[in-house]
Amino acid sequence: MKALILVGGFGTRLRPLTFSIPKPLVDFGNKPMILHQIEALKAAGVTEVVLAINHQQPEVMLNFVKEYEKKLEMKITFSQETEPLGTAGPLALARDKLIDESGKPFFVLNSDVICEYPLLEMIEFHKNHAAEASIMVTKVDDSSKYGVVVMEEEGKEESRVESFVEKPKHFVGDKINAGIYLLNPSVLDMIELRRTSIEKEIFPKIASEKKLYAMVLPGFWMDIGQPKDYLTGQRMYLRYLRKNAPEELLASSGDHVIGNVIADETAVIGERCLIGPDVVIGPGCVIESGVRLFGCTVMRGSRIKEHACVSDSIVGWDSTVGSWARVANITVLGKDVRVADAEVYSSGASIQEQII
Ligand code: GDD
Ligand code: MG
Repeated sequence: MKALILVGGFGTRLRPLTFSIPKPLVDFGNKPMILHQIEALKAAGVTEVVLAINHQQPEVMLNFVKEYEKKLEMKITFSQETEPLGTAGPLALARDKLIDESGKPFFVLNSDVICEYPLLEMIEFHKNHAAEASIMVTKVDDSSKYGVVVMEEEGKEESRVESFVEKPKHFVGDKINAGIYLLNPSVLDMIELRRTSIEKEIFPKIASEKKLYAMVLPGFWMDIGQPKDYLTGQRMYLRYLRKNAPEELLASSGDHVIGNVIADETAVIGERCLIGPDVVIGPGCVIESGVRLFGCTVMRGSRIKEHACVSDSIVGWDSTVGSWARVANITVLGKDVRVADAEVYSSGASIQEQII
């Protein structure tokens, strides 16, 4: 089985992290975002993944593909647009890569969503309704920033889709498109090779032909393409690990580790720190003594110096937070940022360079 992951967005909402690395490779839970998806696809029997990219990707994307093709024993290829083709055009461009002799359906995924990926259940669901397309939906409080899916049988876990409205101006429902699709090859016949949106042009059409079905995604879901949502998604993901793979979390150690925390085995944590809940510490990080961390990510190679406090924030790769500094309230530090050794207080900032 094959899959295409839409990885072409510019990731502007996740700057300054995406100034250094393409959004799909930004770490989440100490793994590049798209690795969560590629591993889930493999577990569901996918053998070939097409990454739909739209602008010149740095070397780092190629290195990722080379590394994980080997590690996962999967075929991972690029389909590169010369201009952005939106969320449907890339499928037309990759047409020959997606269709195989058996006429099997293929997965399409947005690259910035995180969930439990119940892809085997989705294959079963798709077989059972035997229509053209399946999408996963999830319930949210504020549906206005997503694609809203109105099901024919509201309240049911599975149903035919009555209508699909991308980013509606008025309330139409609380079930939203989770960015995970299983499509028959025939859907490709509806997509022209031009910039076009699957949410605005293709799904409304398939729904009106009564060939679109939706299943409610069991478990957690989050679009992690914005810092605040990234941290919410991290909290959900860590809670999921607590239930399903508790061995990946640090053991609560009395006064030092609280709640759900993961730390790479190469990270060094000093004395008299208070870490957690909801913290991820990457490889090679140094957390000096007396540091307080909660609701945050500290990415690979970063150092948090003595008595600093990082809360509800993201510390990008190879950065340093100085002694006694406070980084709080959805602050995002990019790569190689230095926060000075002083009582600096950063709240809700987006920092690319050194601050003094
Ligand atoms: N190859 C390619 N080319 N990929 C693209 C392009 C493009 O021109 N434009 C966007 N993408 C990719 C993004 O990288 C992302 O993985 C996916 O398409 C969706 O784009 P976003 O920019 O993240 O869209 P969104 O978050 O506003 O809305 C989408 O996701 C929601 C769920 O998270 C829609 O699919 C909504 O309907 C959905 O609810
Ligand atoms: Mg998104």
